[in-house]
Amino acid sequence: MMGHGIDDGAFSGLARKARRRLPRLFADYIDGGAHGEHTLHRNRAAFARWGVMPRGLRDVSSIDLTTSCFGRAWRLPFFLAPVGFAGMFHADGEPGAANEAARRSVGMGVSTFSIHAMETVAASGADLMAQIYVMRDRGITRDMLARARACGMSGIIVTIDTAITPVRERDVRNGFRHLSRPTAAQMVGLLKRPLWLTDTVRRGRNTVGNIDRYTTARGVMAQARDVAAQIDPTLDWDDLAWLRDAWNGALVVKGIMHPDDALRAAEHGADGIIVSNHGGRQMDPAPGTLDVLPAIADVIGGRLDIVVDGGIRRGGDVVTALALGASAVSLGRPWAWGLAAYGARGVGAALADLERELRDVMALAGLCDIAALRRAGRTALWPLPS
Ligand SMILES: Cc1cc2nc3c(=O)[nH]c(=O)nc-3n(C[C@H](O)[C@H](O)[C@H](O)COP(=O)(O)O)c2cc1C
Repeated sequence: MMGHGIDDGAFSGLARKARRRLPRLFADYIDGGAHGEHTLHRNRAAFARWGVMPRGLRDVSSIDLTTSCFGRAWRLPFFLAPVGFAGMFHADGEPGAANEAARRSVGMGVSTFSIHAMETVAASGADLMAQIYVMRDRGITRDMLARARACGMSGIIVTIDTAITPVRERDVRNGFRHLSRPTAAQMVGLLKRPLWLTDTVRRGRNTVGNIDRYTTARGVMAQARDVAAQIDPTLDWDDLAWLRDAWNGALVVKGIMHPDDALRAAEHGADGIIVSNHGGRQMDPAPGTLDVLPAIADVIGGRLDIVVDGGIRRGGDVVTALALGASAVSLGRPWAWGLAAYGARGVGAALADLERELRDVMALAGLCDIAALRRAGRTALWPLPS
């Protein structure tokens, strides 16, 4: 069964396994979106409007997927999106995912709400960026920047689409935010997943390791609630200018959907943007990310690297996104499912499955490397009748 009536593409097997292994409330936390989940659906639907054109008689005996993005070199045009609480999905946690990112030479964002502290994740040697939510107390933000610098993060990702957390009906139904004192029904739900439970108890972590120093609350959910309440809803462009001053490494703004905001991010000295609607978890109804990507690529005009996320589930989706102006794609749920299903090995499987499909589509499109794909742009695609 699909978790949200959406085709999970190349990750269907991992997603199915994740849903079987996780307690319902965690599976729903990963799968779900805000309000009517229209944005969640639109992210996928947007890809169905494009075909990739088959081309023949070009030598495609060797396909090179090496990518340069945000000033870094990756072997593949993939980035593991920051995902909160991933360490609750499997004991391998964020360090396990980072090890896979390092092994396969792709970038990764470490969520503010990482169960393992960014310092621990950094030990993987992966090319990591710290995802930052700016807190009302700028002292916390300054401390996070200092930690990111000290542990060798290659940049920061400032997420700007979370001024508030909207209703996510599945989380409300499951009492996700109130798990610190589980109800009888929640206990039964957890006990129904013995593999997950023994894994979590064995690991014995009940803390959001990346931010627990900023709260006196105890337990994952209470800490997350406390720190989430400190995210600053007054954040504005002046604060981005402040961040630009406070951080001298790469600065990427995540959660851009409007071309004007893309332009402003560039004017404020951002080194890159992530076109994202938070995987349909924030604004509902928003357009799909692929729907807005071409207009954003137009205003940016090649000045910054653009990464896009939201519903990327097939190799063809990657080709479509790059043809429409992205330098790379970012994946949220796919690696969360992989981790929940099989630990670090599952994250590796998610990346390998997408790579295999990407190689297929590139070869059949007669495109040997990422530069050729980006040069071809829309001519590699065919708009489909809706
Ligand atoms: C379970 C979950 C937790 C997330 N936590 C964060 C977070 O802490 N910070 C952040 O910037 N984005 C977060 N996101 C959004 C992702 O970084 C990314 O934008 C989104 O998942 C991409 O869409 P996709 O899941 O369809 O690939 C989260 C997404 C999911 C699914």
